[in-house]
Amino acid sequence: MSNNKKRSTILIFDSGIGGLSIYTELRKSMPNAHYIYLFDNKMFPYGDKSSEFLIDRVNHLIKTVTKSYAIDLAVIACNTASTICLPSLRSQFTFPIVGVVPAIKPASKLTKNGSIGLLATKATIRRAYTSELIAQFATNCKVELLGLSELALIAEDKLQGIPVDMVELKRLMQPWLMLPTIPDTIVLGCTHYPFIKDELQLIFPQATFIDSGVAIAKRVSNLLTLNNQLDDQLSEPNIILSTQYNKYVERIAKKLKDYNFLKYQRITDVDV
Ligand code: DGL
Repeated sequence: MSNNKKRSTILIFDSGIGGLSIYTELRKSMPNAHYIYLFDNKMFPYGDKSSEFLIDRVNHLIKTVTKSYAIDLAVIACNTASTICLPSLRSQFTFPIVGVVPAIKPASKLTKNGSIGLLATKATIRRAYTSELIAQFATNCKVELLGLSELALIAEDKLQGIPVDMVELKRLMQPWLMLPTIPDTIVLGCTHYPFIKDELQLIFPQATFIDSGVAIAKRVSNLLTLNNQLDDQLSEPNIILSTQYNKYVERIAKKLKDYNFLKYQRITDVDV
């Protein structure tokens, strides 16, 4: 590989820490890419925000980042944002924008009992994009939908070291536990949920869980040419950006270092 190939800068965006589940997969296949992770903690959670608000907000935030950093590709590592913001983002920016949307298609191929479950934010469950995915790819099975506001928060808490309340989690899963046919394949349609997959697996021991991380990493590496020989010593550190600096960011700072994000900045050039 030639030495003058530039290291690609990948922007990952989410409302919170959910996008780290996508980042983990990206980093496995592209360890030497330059990562900038932006999270809109000021407006978290996105699951209860209107479509209009999210379109404006996400476009504005990505634009703000591009004023300071040359981005080669952006991953909207948030199903809630991707299912509504992709067309406007793609019309505004020239670099590729990869969205993360519920993995309905692979789930429909895996189910044995003909019932798949989609676990996502309330907003993702309501989107036309989601109904279209189901109509297009899940004609062979029944799709059970469960839209919840609490799960992303439970995942954020877990990252801060707060253990998951299993009684509460089981209560939230009641609608599915009461079904005559419990889904044997569950789509984690929010990037926060892989962080609580082990706990969900305890509640649904027979189920296979599917998230979009590996597929997104494949798609991104196909889109980029990376110089994997790059000397890390000469490289810019991976950067975390957020819209608010608060106790939460303080608490997860050490975790973010473990993820190899060595620099933090609050976005200031935005009315947050
Ligand atoms: N991580 C986000 C998603 O994939 C949403 C969490 C939220 O802000 O409600 O949908």
